[in-house]
Amino acid sequence: MRIDVVTIFPDYLAPLELSLIGRARRAGLLDVVVHDLREATTDRHRTVDDTPYGGGAGMVMKPEPWRRALDAVLAAGPADVGRPRLLVPSPGGRVLDQAMARELASEPWLVFACGRYEGIDERVLLDAAQRFEVTPVSLGDYVLNGGEVAVLAITEAVARLLPGVVGNAESLVEESHEDGLLEYPVYTKPASWRGLDVPEVLLSGDHAAIARWRHQQRLERTATRRPDLLAPTAADDPAGLAVVPATP
Ligand code: ADE
Repeated sequence: MRIDVVTIFPDYLAPLELSLIGRARRAGLLDVVVHDLREATTDRHRTVDDTPYGGGAGMVMKPEPWRRALDAVLAAGPADVGRPRLLVPSPGGRVLDQAMARELASEPWLVFACGRYEGIDERVLLDAAQRFEVTPVSLGDYVLNGGEVAVLAITEAVARLLPGVVGNAESLVEESHEDGLLEYPVYTKPASWRGLDVPEVLLSGDHAAIARWRHQQRLERTATRRPDLLAPTAADDPAGLAVVPATP
């Protein structure tokens, strides 16, 4: 997979050199290229923002550097894939979940446009839609200072689903959100620690009993911590047709 990131803070993306993502890049499973938006400016001050039409607080990112930067990304990117996906992190975007991470993991080429200040001039996205499949994406219902942290999170959620990035592929299957339930609690040695014992069943060697216990824990944990995952609201499911995920 190819990932391009356009930002005014390239250094913010340095963590993509580390850990599993860094290793995947070095192994050639993932090609990440970070571009400085200021390289696409033409004035002495390398200006990327200006005051908003209509007034209001803050600054808006100017369209011209964005068009030039995205042109450069397209020109330098892989020739053999179709329209890249242009992901624009913003609190008003589609909220990232595991299903979206899987959808993005099937794409050959993702391009991130990191906004700062009050955002990017709306025409950049309209213009880009002629050459990219544009998707505003949000990490959740809160406001960050810019798109860079969202790029780190989205890239990690997506890259770990690529074949070969996570060593033990089985560990991907039993994770929170893969099937709509949270993960069961995990324990390691010692069996007793500060008066807290590992649940007896996990020491029993009875694999069927362990599987049942773990499934029950997932249901209980989801019901306690994230009941919204189990019980759709009346608005989501007016006929009450949704069912709780089945026991294996
Ligand atoms: N930029 C600012 N806030 C954001 C959010 N919640 N998600 C993604 N990008 C953002």
